[in-house]
Amino acid sequence: MRGKGYTASISYDRRLYKEDIAGSIAHVKMLARQGILSDRDSKTIVSGLEAILREIAEGIFPWKEELEDIHMNVEARLYEIIGSVAGRMHTARSRNDQVTTDLRLYVKSAIDSTWAGIVALQTAILDQAEKNISVVMPGYTHLQMAQPVLLAHHLLAYFEMLERDKDRLQEAFARVDVLPLGSGALVGSPYPLDRDFVAKELGFSRISSNSMDAVSDRDFVLDYMYSSSVIMTHLSRLAEEMVLWSSEEFGFVRMGENHSTGSSIMPQKRNPDFAELGRGRSGRVYGNLVGFLTTLKGLPLTYNRDLQEDKEGLFDSIDTVLSTLDAFTGMLEDINFDSNKMLEATEKGFMLATDLADYLVSKGLPFRESYDVIKALTSYAQTEKKSFDQLSLAEYQQFSSLFGDEVLKIDLESSLMARSVSGGTAPSNVKSELRRARKIVDSIKI
Ligand code: ARG
Repeated sequence: MRGKGYTASISYDRRLYKEDIAGSIAHVKMLARQGILSDRDSKTIVSGLEAILREIAEGIFPWKEELEDIHMNVEARLYEIIGSVAGRMHTARSRNDQVTTDLRLYVKSAIDSTWAGIVALQTAILDQAEKNISVVMPGYTHLQMAQPVLLAHHLLAYFEMLERDKDRLQEAFARVDVLPLGSGALVGSPYPLDRDFVAKELGFSRISSNSMDAVSDRDFVLDYMYSSSVIMTHLSRLAEEMVLWSSEEFGFVRMGENHSTGSSIMPQKRNPDFAELGRGRSGRVYGNLVGFLTTLKGLPLTYNRDLQEDKEGLFDSIDTVLSTLDAFTGMLEDINFDSNKMLEATEKGFMLATDLADYLVSKGLPFRESYDVIKALTSYAQTEKKSFDQLSLAEYQQFSSLFGDEVLKIDLESSLMARSVSGGTAPSNVKSELRRARKIVDSIKI
């Protein structure tokens, strides 16, 4: 037969087995409480479902592609185990409210794991920031050396991004935490169901309010796909910096042996493959989001088989973001920052130019005029092939009579200390931000 297997989803939706069985157990218990099913039948069904759970966990469950999906596979096996009572399980239920209940449960636990993965990475970032608390490096804009900054301040920028990623996941969690079961195929159910009981059994905080929306809504899938896309964007930016910084030209980091690989022909190389693959895999996570947005647009209410296409991309995004978070945590634990190379780099690029301009401002010169003075001073130093600290006071004074002795004391340290505004790179600030960040991760119980 042509097209055989075309409609089947069992090869990938089997990973919903725990959620599918938990959903059925809660449903059947409720049917018995409401007198829709006898206690005896309900108990028989529940024990049959538990047997199936064990079979799947042990890897001996007889999966059948012709039964298409996880729901039909479980139900058919239930018949084999308990006989015709199995036929009562699907009372007051449709695969339409069943599948989306399963998927919501799955996404809830995926959000928990993603959250935990982020916290682990944040911890690795904090460990490195604390270990390298006094390391100074060039800060960049336009990838041009701009102003000196503490490496810890740079690393804490990623901590902040990941904090926002956690917020986004929490918001997504609140929206997915709604029970659709009881919506039937699309219009609800004629049985006296206790949906709140089922919600409680399955750990949902709310029940859905509109059956038609409940069976056709997949916003929660998009929410996860979007949240994971932003996470991958952040990881990809971190990856890009690690790739750049591990180059000979920068030399700011050395990747650990376990998180880099050699070249097959160039023995001297240590390639940052983990960082590159993380950066590269952001593409597929964005692809999953755009792909599924496209699937959803234009679908009439309510359930359409197109919705089955929610799963593969979602699972791929979950797998990709979880494995990338894990790999990057290892990479960060294993990385060595070269403080000497970073310090050497700060000597280039006239990075104290802004500090010199601020000095003249402190002497009463308007900033715009001071800017012009320092611009002229910098091009003089460039022509003389001297750095600022190699200029004499007399040379400074050729550009402005406001320069006094104190200008010779402007250095990396004074530059950093001066940025003591909240959120700035002053060491005292960075230390208190580190403490704040540490408290955040320490207060999390996973
Ligand atoms: N495998 C289906 C899916 O994932 C389950 C729901 C099928 N419903 C239906 N009316 N054919 O969407």
